[in-house]
Amino acid sequence: MTAQTLRWPLPKHDYWSTPFAESLLQHLDLRPGLRILDIASGHGIPAFYLAEQVGPTGEVLAIDISGGQVARARAIQGSHLPWLRFECMDMRSPSPDLPTFDRITGNLSVMFFRPDRFNAVHGLVQHLAPGGQIVLTFPSYGTFDSLWERVDESMVQQELIKERKRFQDYLHERPSAKAGRTWLEKLNLDQIGAFEYPLEVKTGPGQEFLYHPLLRGGFLDDVYECFEDQSFANRFMTDIAQDITRFTPLIAQRCVLSGWRKS
Ligand SMILES: C[S@@+](CC[C@H](N)C(=O)[O-])C[C@H]1O[C@@H](n2cnc3c(N)ncnc32)[C@H](O)[C@@H]1O
Repeated sequence: MTAQTLRWPLPKHDYWSTPFAESLLQHLDLRPGLRILDIASGHGIPAFYLAEQVGPTGEVLAIDISGGQVARARAIQGSHLPWLRFECMDMRSPSPDLPTFDRITGNLSVMFFRPDRFNAVHGLVQHLAPGGQIVLTFPSYGTFDSLWERVDESMVQQELIKERKRFQDYLHERPSAKAGRTWLEKLNLDQIGAFEYPLEVKTGPGQEFLYHPLLRGGFLDDVYECFEDQSFANRFMTDIAQDITRFTPLIAQRCVLSGWRKS
């Protein structure tokens, strides 16, 4: 199917999910007739794209823990692509009735595999058919390091000992490409790959940085959570927001993990 005839392309103006999904698709062996489980499906990136590609002889089950996201995806779907289903399910403990699939995909998923990421991947691989492929993406260790260094510098200067300890714990808990590769090796998968592609996230100073829809939706909140006093956190972050030349360009690492279950 050519790009011109696609009815369900990846959204062009999404500057986060779409670039991650593009890197996922770069490594996914995608063909008509496949049965795919798409985890952490959100409102359907890349589930709609996958469903169009596998066609009516295939099947896509897209799961998300959030009822709101599932409802939103179903509203977008309407009566289109009837071989695509959105269901509410926790990807860390899939229902035992879940069958096996030819492919398991998860765009921006691995960071939500807490508390035991290996266990979550292990559980998913049980639902991968022999000869099937799993492809997962996530922002890996190294993402926005220039910003974290700037935050750490201020914490040191201001002697914020408790806050810095929480911040360091948060930084060390982030999943890395190397850890991801190790999980797939322990699960005895074939043709294992852990690839990283840089992605620049643009921002301006001040409010544009502090309320950047991507940064404030997760990454910056993790810094705020290191503070007990939220008005102090606001002042701390407002100072940093004036100093963006010190930590831009802001670079995320798009990590793609891929492996095949032995036949
Ligand atoms: C960053 S969004 C990615 C959504 C979509 N794949 C995309 O690329 O836009 C992560 C999604 O994972 C879902 N999620 C988080 N924890 C989950 C879990 N344990 N099981 C299933 N979905 C989960 C969230 O509800 C959210 O919709």
